[in-house]
Amino acid sequence: MVSLVLRGLRDLSKRAETFISVPRRHRHKKKWAATEPTFSATQLALQNFDMTYSVQFGELWPSIRVSLLSEQKYGALVNNFATWDHVSTELEQLNARDFVNEAMSRGERKPEGDQTAASPPDSWAYSPNLRCFTFARGDVSRFPPARLGSLGVMGYYLMDAASLLPVLALGLQPGDIVLDLCAAPGGKTLALLQTGCCRHLAANDQSTSRTARLQNVLHSYVPQEIRNNNQVRVTSWDGRKWGELEGDTYDRVLVDVPCTTDRHSLHEEENNIFKKSRKKERQMLPMLQVQLLAAGLLATKPGGHVVYSTCSLSHLQNEYVVQGAIELLANQYSIKVQVDDLTHFRKLFMDTFFFFPSCQVGELVIPNLMANFGPMYFCKLCRLT
Ligand SMILES: C[S@@+](CC[C@H](N)C(=O)[O-])C[C@H]1O[C@@H](n2cnc3c(N)ncnc32)[C@H](O)[C@@H]1O
Repeated sequence: MVSLVLRGLRDLSKRAETFISVPRRHRHKKKWAATEPTFSATQLALQNFDMTYSVQFGELWPSIRVSLLSEQKYGALVNNFATWDHVSTELEQLNARDFVNEAMSRGERKPEGDQTAASPPDSWAYSPNLRCFTFARGDVSRFPPARLGSLGVMGYYLMDAASLLPVLALGLQPGDIVLDLCAAPGGKTLALLQTGCCRHLAANDQSTSRTARLQNVLHSYVPQEIRNNNQVRVTSWDGRKWGELEGDTYDRVLVDVPCTTDRHSLHEEENNIFKKSRKKERQMLPMLQVQLLAAGLLATKPGGHVVYSTCSLSHLQNEYVVQGAIELLANQYSIKVQVDDLTHFRKLFMDTFFFFPSCQVGELVIPNLMANFGPMYFCKLCRLT
């Protein structure tokens, strides 16, 4: 042992001697690389997803990955403030179908002897009057841009059809007072208004430039009399404060939080959260999401419902946030919150979307080449006390 150590020391001193015998002007510090490789934000996003989602989704990841990198599919949300029957006929002529109406009709055709279909739980109740057209599975046709109709508003709004699921799941009832906590640019706000259920809708987004986009959407799709009669209020406040501002107030609250917007992050450099300069902001997202969901729950009346949603596949931003907010409300406010079971709801929409089969809480639409919608995570919560 001692001889081994001695030999090691001898080798070291030999190398030191050789170094000393080289004249100083010929000595070089070895450089491994002149500059570190630089990656674009979209490349960094893909590296991050490959690392985390391959573990999270296992053998499903390669198929989700290729779908995320391919062109996404859209749905056409019919504007009920336009001459909607005319718009629906036009969309049918394109060979598109109203997936909401189809799912509801399927739900009403209860198979004989199927007890579960005969008595769905209350949490299954969906928001009414929504019509959204999509092309069939495997059909990658595109919708033409919407046009201004005879009533001075646009005929339909193009959006990821999976974005409608959180609004459907929120289960609006006529006369509801509704809060959309992170509302801009406004696709889901528009859908909430289409239900015809909102006695009052508060649409908020902290970013003033984005609330300007929301105002544009309202302007193009909602008639002036509805915009002007105080039915819709647009604000630019920090949603985290909502519990203090208007606690115990709303029947229904949508908390569609800022997230890693997975599809956007793989395709667009602009405003990409995987930019090196936004690393801290990205790491803080789950914390911000818990705070926003907690604020949404505090703003809800006891007995009211909240839907939490993201367009990310990350468990850290989805299920963990829901569990974190439930714990926070129990520990800090002694408020009980229950997760509603959406199994019936998922079954209704399985012909249009692919769902991840192993969510602990909530539902997750995963992108698939046959139906390239999502990602969209949503979880419905009921504030009990
Ligand atoms: C996923 S987007 C919302 C999309 C929108 N619900 C829709 O369907 O068009 C998240 C939004 O949260 C907003 N936001 C970020 N931090 C916020 C905060 N503290 N309070 C309120 N809104 C916030 C962002 O400006 C962004 O517009």
